Amino acid sequence: MTLEKIFKNLWTQYECHNPLIKQIHDLVETKELGKPIVNDHIALRTFNHPRVNLEVIAKFFLDLGYEEKGQYNFEEKMLNAKHYEKEGYPRIFISELRLEECSPFIRETVEGILEQVPLMATVRPNFLWSGCLWDMISSEDYECIRHESEYAAWLCVFGFRANHFTISVNHLRCFELASLVRFLKNNEVLMNKVGGEIKGDKRITYFEQASTLACNDVVDFSDVSMEVPCCYYEFSQRYELPSGELFNGFVTTNADKIFESTDVQDK
Ligand code: NI
Repeated sequence: MTLEKIFKNLWTQYECHNPLIKQIHDLVETKELGKPIVNDHIALRTFNHPRVNLEVIAKFFLDLGYEEKGQYNFEEKMLNAKHYEKEGYPRIFISELRLEECSPFIRETVEGILEQVPLMATVRPNFLWSGCLWDMISSEDYECIRHESEYAAWLCVFGFRANHFTISVNHLRCFELASLVRFLKNNEVLMNKVGGEIKGDKRITYFEQASTLACNDVVDFSDVSMEVPCCYYEFSQRYELPSGELFNGFVTTNADKIFESTDVQDK
């Protein structure tokens, strides 16, 4: 399968579960007079279990010419992450939850669901958008997991898919990140405000990011159906380093707050 097909499949699944994503995409594209939107990166999530870990996900991209370019550690969220690049394509950002640092309850629940993943399902690229390859957990287990790790809870109910796409503001004609955020808010898009609407800084981190709050999706738990936060859209702007090169990596302090876009919001 080509990269184009992989990205198309990831995108189709991502936008069809989230009507807001398509609306935002079309709003921005219309303002840009139809100039196609370029993605800065696509983010994927997984567990560090040998059957589905970061390396299992990364292999599809490495086989198609991507190279590993950065490694990250999110201490508090118990995540490892790596990013991969290939010229002319969006960066791929993959994170994995360190199960050994989670409670026995999360470990056992996750082992239980991953045992249901057929080994063969993980060797084809459509694994990347295969969703939940297990019987849905109960809403009670979801709540319990979420209080310890929103990330783990999200993965248990949504499985393998793009967590978010990110519009590259560097490639937009009409907007800087700040004016894009204003434009979206004027169009009644709800932004993630954790750590400020715009995370990062032009002169210190050379990377600014903003994201919407995740839209809700109805999940059929084993006991009830309930709306929970699903996927969000991100926007990023990269700046030149003192060397004159564009900053190409990721900033853990920014991303830490961006991860919280899929947290359940306190009313
Ligand atoms: Ni991101």
